[in-house]
Amino acid sequence: MNLLFIGDIFGSAGRRIVREHIGHIRQAHDVELVIINAENAAGGFGLTPQIAEDLFDLGADVLTTGNHVWDKRELIDYMNSVPADSQQRPRRVLRPANLQPGLPGYGVFEGSTDSGVDYAVVDLQGCVFMNTTNDPFHAANRLLEGIKAKVIVVDFHAEATSEKVAMGWHLDGRVTAVLGTHTHIPTADERVLPGGTAYQTDIGMSGPYDSVIGVEKDLVLKKFISGMPSKFEAAKGNPKMCAALIACDPSTGHALRIQRIMLGE
Ligand SMILES: [Fe+2]
Repeated sequence: MNLLFIGDIFGSAGRRIVREHIGHIRQAHDVELVIINAENAAGGFGLTPQIAEDLFDLGADVLTTGNHVWDKRELIDYMNSVPADSQQRPRRVLRPANLQPGLPGYGVFEGSTDSGVDYAVVDLQGCVFMNTTNDPFHAANRLLEGIKAKVIVVDFHAEATSEKVAMGWHLDGRVTAVLGTHTHIPTADERVLPGGTAYQTDIGMSGPYDSVIGVEKDLVLKKFISGMPSKFEAAKGNPKMCAALIACDPSTGHALRIQRIMLGE
């Protein structure tokens, strides 16, 4: 079984490049499950219900997020519009599972592919150099106890490479894939760990690469050079789609291969 994980969509350039490539990748590799991190899809900040619907129309099964999940307040109403046990689209938009208790939304989605393979997607956020969250390592242990599916994909939305590598080892053999997001820079360390977990420290952004991690480069340079605050805007130039294609055995959930993808216009 092949699954596709698309890295953080950034702004309209990111949405456009994903629209250009998602169809032929899905078809060429007979992809059964598509997961997209979409937390920067709305102009670089958050996700709107309309953009979520557009991504589902393109073939996404589950959308993950991270520290920008609450940037667009209307997403909260969208998430709350269906009950916890729903399989409908609003329930397929995840926020990190290890945020403070009682917040809207969910950090895990469990579903089945068209061919009947049960799967789970888990969204976790790192603690190092990030806003306050609960410990993602213990949170992962607790969440896995409640998941019956063999195919489990973890989006670990985190800043520090060390924390992400550690999570890979922590979950090796217990999940199908641990895939890093958030830094918007793809790393070249994709591999299948000895226990059968596909791992990559960061999938990289799907967005404009003539930028500073998605933002118009002149605005970021001005801030670094002058120290003065500046309003950030999403860049447009040189869009690329970054993703990982993972082959796994649906009967065990173990990964067989992981391939890093970066596609331009
Ligand atoms: Fe992020």
